[in-house]
Amino acid sequence: MHRAIRRMFDSGQVMAGKWFGMASGRGGPGGSDGKLGALNRRLLGYPNNHNYQIRGQRRIPSHRLAERWRVISSIYPKKLESFLDVGCCKGFFVLENAARPECKRSVGIDVVDSFVDTAREAGNYMNVVGAEFHSASLDDVAGRVEEFGGPFQVVQLINTYHYLFWGSNLNTKAYGDHRTIFSMFHAVTSSCFIFSSPLEVKVAPQEIRDRAAAAGNHEYHREAILDAAQDFFDVIELPALDTRNRRPLLLMVKRANGS
Ligand SMILES: C[S@@+](CC[C@H](N)C(=O)[O-])C[C@H]1O[C@@H](n2cnc3c(N)ncnc32)[C@H](O)[C@@H]1O
Repeated sequence: MHRAIRRMFDSGQVMAGKWFGMASGRGGPGGSDGKLGALNRRLLGYPNNHNYQIRGQRRIPSHRLAERWRVISSIYPKKLESFLDVGCCKGFFVLENAARPECKRSVGIDVVDSFVDTAREAGNYMNVVGAEFHSASLDDVAGRVEEFGGPFQVVQLINTYHYLFWGSNLNTKAYGDHRTIFSMFHAVTSSCFIFSSPLEVKVAPQEIRDRAAAAGNHEYHREAILDAAQDFFDVIELPALDTRNRRPLLLMVKRANGS
């Protein structure tokens, strides 16, 4: 498919049945099932690379989400027993992992309530057992790991590290310190931590560049981030999710004695 057309599909501008196979059918965004239609509409939109639709008992990811899922899920251990997605957004990764028979707990947290509500509703609609969604921050889970069902064999943070560090227009909560953040990931992880996010301000979204500019001198760069990560994890760099390597994909294996 031509790249521009694919972008329009992924952004939800084109709702042709060819992608979701249901634009005018029952349950589609324009379909006659009001509840599912409304839910499907909420599963589109920002962030566009996390767009999916529910069709019967199937989750149908957009092309970009399917590709991200293919790459990221190939890193998971064959027997994935427990999973935490920090910044779970609309919940696709949590729901997919909850559907794996060996996965006992698949938990998503986000600091934006509307995302948590949408993800939970998608799970409830599809009767996904073993998926949980919480309006919670990383420090909430790190401070009460067992209450949330952790520590988790695999913890995932995709396209969200810069928001943890700087805050965002959706939620101003910001930790502002790499060691603080990685120490919390160390606390919630039992085996490995999958990470992909911009490591330099210049390739982060505009709102982050604005925050960094307002802050003046700052420590948001690759060397400082990896230095902090390596105090807690052995870090393996994998081929990036994006072709321009703006958001490196890192597999971090927990050190028993993280400092
Ligand atoms: C670009 S989305 C990534 C979502 C998902 N991980 C993915 O890869 O599809 C960024 C996520 O960060 C969350 N977020 C926004 N502000 C935040 C903050 N201050 N602290 C933590 N997470 C934040 C958003 O709710 C959203 O789910």
